[in-house]
Amino acid sequence: EEVARTRLGGAKLIVVANREPYIHRYKDGEVEWIRPAGGLTTALDPVMQACGGVWVAHGSGDADRAVTDANGRVGVPPDDPNYVLRRVWLTKDEEEGYYYGTANSMLWPLCHQVFARPAFDPKHWETYRKVNETFARAVLEEAEGGPALVFVQDYHFALLPRLLKAARPDLVTAQFWHIPWPGPEKFLVCPWAKELLDGMLGNDLLGFHTQHDCNNFFDTVDRALECRIDRERFAVQRGGQATTVRPFPISVDPALADEYLGDDWESRATALRKKHRLGDRALIVGVDRVDYTKGIPERLQAVDRLLHKHPELKGQFHFVQVGAPSRTHIPAYRDLTEEVNALAERINWEHGTDEWQPVVFLNEHHGPDDIFVLYRTAAGCIVSSLHDGMNLVAKEFVTARGDDRGVLVLSQFTGAARELPDAVLVNPFDVEEMADGLYASLTMSGSEQERRMRRMRAQVDDHNIYRWAGMLLSEVGKRVPDPVPVPAV
Ligand code: F6P
Repeated sequence: EEVARTRLGGAKLIVVANREPYIHRYKDGEVEWIRPAGGLTTALDPVMQACGGVWVAHGSGDADRAVTDANGRVGVPPDDPNYVLRRVWLTKDEEEGYYYGTANSMLWPLCHQVFARPAFDPKHWETYRKVNETFARAVLEEAEGGPALVFVQDYHFALLPRLLKAARPDLVTAQFWHIPWPGPEKFLVCPWAKELLDGMLGNDLLGFHTQHDCNNFFDTVDRALECRIDRERFAVQRGGQATTVRPFPISVDPALADEYLGDDWESRATALRKKHRLGDRALIVGVDRVDYTKGIPERLQAVDRLLHKHPELKGQFHFVQVGAPSRTHIPAYRDLTEEVNALAERINWEHGTDEWQPVVFLNEHHGPDDIFVLYRTAAGCIVSSLHDGMNLVAKEFVTARGDDRGVLVLSQFTGAARELPDAVLVNPFDVEEMADGLYASLTMSGSEQERRMRRMRAQVDDHNIYRWAGMLLSEVGKRVPDPVPVPAV
């Protein structure tokens, strides 16, 4: 309980996110834990480790129940606990309607410009509502008996802030929306748009990655609801509630790179190369959840184009795509995995030989230890999202390059592109430009790489995850009631 108190004026910090930062699962009859793929948990776990508090999340591992107490609580990180993970259990139907349905088949395509049609299913919507209520109950239990700052994550919980405020007007609520916010023409086709907006305006503070997302949100609210918008003061006033709406570009913890790389990264790189038959060829890497917003087929087409344009590169490099399986219950995600497999096979058939396959598709979960070794040993990293709120792979790659080498090929449609103009910026819909970007990653001079990488590293070092959390929490901390003495930790 002691670690669940932060120095935020003595208020307890409660983070709510669908995804848990640590998943316990059975492997060969033993319980092991892994970190899930995806930027949110990578970004927020170090913050929670620094602040202490409670993280409320959906318990998703098959061994999660085995290690938690009767209230679903367990100390994390599992090997050296310093904050509390409170797991909420959902039935399969709830998971179906709330996570696969409303969150990932409706809100996900609704908020990304990727021409995927959102599914508007009233049954799923009803479940989304109910699950938001379930999480509200868990948060209210955790917040009992004192001031608390509840920091809600993402599009899984648009209704939660309003529910919390209705039950406990004294709670301070902030929400960060980790995905883009679309313009009003797009968002307002949603039959439950007003309810979603009203839920989000239950927050004291609402954060997006960019000013562009905030402007889209103001435009959407302006069209849909009776309220006062003061863009100069970044505020929406609705009923008695004032919500500050501001950009907070999320980031990573640069110090983690050294931790993941360790002293032995070179020998681990050699082992990895051996395992996947990569020889000592140049590598271009892509690291993503297999998601249709990430532009994975587009980058494979660019590899194909590159080999047609520059046949002299045959046998000289591998394109290694780490593709963590994601949301595989949704047909669009399953179809994408098949499409990527088929494309990789076709390209390897056309250009490859017995000794050399241009594309290596690793369609399984990889921990950060492997991923950082890949980042460090690669000539280049490609992020070709068709639309992405921020994209933390781009920033992670930069933090892994303490050698000031390596080329980042980055989609101009990511939030990260605004902060990293020294990347090779590309339009992922333009196969020619992408192929040229890949070519640049294999041929750029050492001095040019160094010049660009230094600037990118300085940017990420400076605008790191602690700065993000500090800005956000100090902005909302202004609303925390008078400080009470902090118990000794
Ligand atoms: O960026 C949006 C997001 O939902 C993050 O919250 C999360 O890190 C990532 O995508 C992974 O998604 P999921 O939790 O559905 O695996």
